[in-house]
Amino acid sequence: MSVRLVWEPDAPTAASRAPWREEARLAAGDASTENRLYFGDNLSALGALEADPGQRFRLVYLDPPYNTGAAFDHYDDHRAPEDWLSMMMAVLRAVKPLLRDDGVLVLQTDRHESAYAKVLCDMVFGRAAYQTTLAVRMSATSGYKIGHSVSSVVKNTEYLHVYAPGRFVLCARAFELAPYDDHYNLFVEGLGSLGARVVPLLEVDDVRATFEAEGLPRQSRNLAKLYETKAFRRWVAAHAGQVVRAHTAPLPAQAEHRAGQLFATDDPADRVLERRYRGQGYLLRRRGRQLEQLIPIGLKLNPIDDDRFEGAPVMTNVLGDWWDGFHLDMGNVSKEGETPFKNGKKPERLLYRLMRMFTDEGDAVLDPFGGSGTTAAVALKARRRFVLIEQGAQLETHIVPRLARVVAGDDRSGVSTLVAGPPGDGFRVFVQGLARGENCATEPAVSGPSR
Ligand SMILES: C[S@@+](CC[C@H](N)C(=O)[O-])C[C@H]1O[C@@H](n2cnc3c(N)ncnc32)[C@H](O)[C@@H]1O
Repeated sequence: MSVRLVWEPDAPTAASRAPWREEARLAAGDASTENRLYFGDNLSALGALEADPGQRFRLVYLDPPYNTGAAFDHYDDHRAPEDWLSMMMAVLRAVKPLLRDDGVLVLQTDRHESAYAKVLCDMVFGRAAYQTTLAVRMSATSGYKIGHSVSSVVKNTEYLHVYAPGRFVLCARAFELAPYDDHYNLFVEGLGSLGARVVPLLEVDDVRATFEAEGLPRQSRNLAKLYETKAFRRWVAAHAGQVVRAHTAPLPAQAEHRAGQLFATDDPADRVLERRYRGQGYLLRRRGRQLEQLIPIGLKLNPIDDDRFEGAPVMTNVLGDWWDGFHLDMGNVSKEGETPFKNGKKPERLLYRLMRMFTDEGDAVLDPFGGSGTTAAVALKARRRFVLIEQGAQLETHIVPRLARVVAGDDRSGVSTLVAGPPGDGFRVFVQGLARGENCATEPAVSGPSR
C-alpha cells in the first residue's frame, strides 16, 4: 500500500510544443559545447530533453519558487497550494526519466512546502529512493528578522530532499572545519627509522620557532591558539604523518601483540613501530604491558570549501545532514558572479558542495529553475556539464552575462578560488519560439495528480 497526497488539481499544466531553436547571438565560448541554456518553460524543455537519449543527468537540482506568498522582482512566489503541488508533480515526473541510473535528485525548499515536497518525491520516486534531508542554515536572526522575532518564529533553515531512484553513489564526503584537538600533542621523530621516538609537540624546534615568529606570548602557548596561524597549519599539514595522539589500542590488537604479530615482547619500550595489519598501517609503541596506538593527525586533515584556507588541508569533522554557515555566504550572495538577484539566489558554495558529493568531473547537471544561473556558473567552474532552464527575462539579463564572464575567466567571485584549472568551454542557448510561418501546438503535460 502506498501513501498518496490527494488534492484538487488546478487547470492542467500545459507544456508548449513550440519548437526550440538555437539563438547563437546569446552563446559564448566553444560553439560545439554540450552546455545548454533553455529560455522558456521547463516542462517543455524537459520534454525536448527526454526525446534525446544523450541527455541524461548525474544530478538534477530543483530550486523552485518556495511559495512564500510574496511577489518577487524576478518571479511570482504566490500560488494556491494545489497549484504549486501540480506544478511540482509535473516537473518531478518530467525529470525522472532524465536521471542516470546513478543519478541523484536534490529538491530545495523552505518550511512552506518542504513536507509536501517530500511526499511528492516519495510518490514519484518511491520511498526507497529517499536518501536524506539536508538542513541548511541560510540566514541568521539579525536585521529585519529581529523585528519579526517578536511575533513569529524566524526562519533560518532550508531543506534539501535527496533522492536516488537507481543506485546511490556518494562521490565524495563533505567535511567541515573542526577546532584543533589538543590531544594531537605528540610528534614522532625519525619516523621510518629504528630510532623513531615520540616527543611532546611543544618541544619540537619548528613548533617553538613558530610560536616565536608569531609573537604569541608565553601564557598562550597552547596548540589550538597556534593552529589559528597559517604557518603552523602549513607545518602540521607537511608533517601530517608525524603529529599524533596516543590511543590505547583495542583488545584485538592486544591479542595480536600477544601472538607476536604486531611486535615482539622484547621490543624496547617506547620505540615507535610501524606495522601493517589486515591491509592497514599502524603506528604503535609499547608502554610497559600496554600497546599504545599513535593516531596521525593526517586522518583528520582534509581540504574544505572555505576559501580562507585556499584549498589547504585543515582539521575537519565529517559533515552529516546539518549544514551550518551558509548564512554567511548569503550575506555576500548578491556579489557572486556580479549578479544581484533579489530573492531566491543560492550561494555558489552550496552548489559546489552538492556537485562534489554527487557528481564527478565531466558529469552532467540539470537545473530546470535557473534563476540567476548559479548552478551553471558553478558547473562551469567545477568542470561539470550543464543544462539549465529559465523562463524569465533574467535568462538574458542575468544568466547569459554571468556565464559569459565565467567562460572568459573574468569571474573571481564565489567558488572561483576553490577550484583549480580553467572553467568549462562555453554554452549554447535555445529559445522557444516560432520561426516565421510555423504553427504552435500545446498539449496538457499533466492532468493533475494520479490518485
Ligand atoms: C528560486 S529561483 C532559482 C534561483 C537559482 N537557484 C539561483 O541560485 O539563482 C526560481 C526560478 O525558477 C523560475 N521558474 C519558475 N517556474 C518556471 C518554469 N515553469 N519554467 C522555467 N523557469 C521557471 C523562476 O523564474 C525563478 O527564476
